[in-house]
Amino acid sequence: MSWKVLDRMTPAFDANAEPLITPEVREKIESYFPRYETKRAALLPALHLVQNTYGHVSYQAMSEIAEVLEIHPSDVLDTITFYTHFWTHKKGRKVITVCRSLSCEVCGGAALLKEVKKQLNVGEHETTPDGEYSLVTEECLAVCDHGPCMLINEKMHKRVRVEDVEKILSDPNNDKIDYERSDLFDPPAMKPAEVYAAAGLQAHKKDSSNSAVSEKPQGE
Ligand code: FES
Repeated sequence: MSWKVLDRMTPAFDANAEPLITPEVREKIESYFPRYETKRAALLPALHLVQNTYGHVSYQAMSEIAEVLEIHPSDVLDTITFYTHFWTHKKGRKVITVCRSLSCEVCGGAALLKEVKKQLNVGEHETTPDGEYSLVTEECLAVCDHGPCMLINEKMHKRVRVEDVEKILSDPNNDKIDYERSDLFDPPAMKPAEVYAAAGLQAHKKDSSNSAVSEKPQGE
């Protein structure tokens, strides 16, 4: 083990650079505000939006998101570095995530990872020279009964045999999900009170238990 020295003296980005986040993306982030009680609460959907739009969330983007949400840039950095889903640097057009947890491991997960590395000629956290694939590993991907498994972007590949890897990687549609998204993925913006009403709940002021919603159905 060795310590990695981080350069904190050099600015992470040019503060005089042109804004990265377009007015359209900024407007979309602001459209999330009515869903929540605070602007800060829109941080995760904002990060998803920015990453989906630009491929990753750069330090400049973090700073601009912080400005829109009226929070400190370090709050954005804290959140990004907690979730492995978010990338702070460029990644491949497709991200392969191989499961490294126990159920997949005993079903051949290590051999699967080795074969993917061999086929792409990259290691973990690396990207192929053509920018097509990045490779990472993650703990359980929640399909333990179908191990070994791997995700390509959002598409789950189950019970992957080593001999199938080449065919999967050469399939241009290997990252396409074949079902409709839930409306919950990007629901229309609703005010909190409307959300509670739709769920048959009563909104009330926060009490000492810090609960923001009464679970008692309206009308009772
Ligand atoms: S152990 Fe691989 S999906 Fe759970």
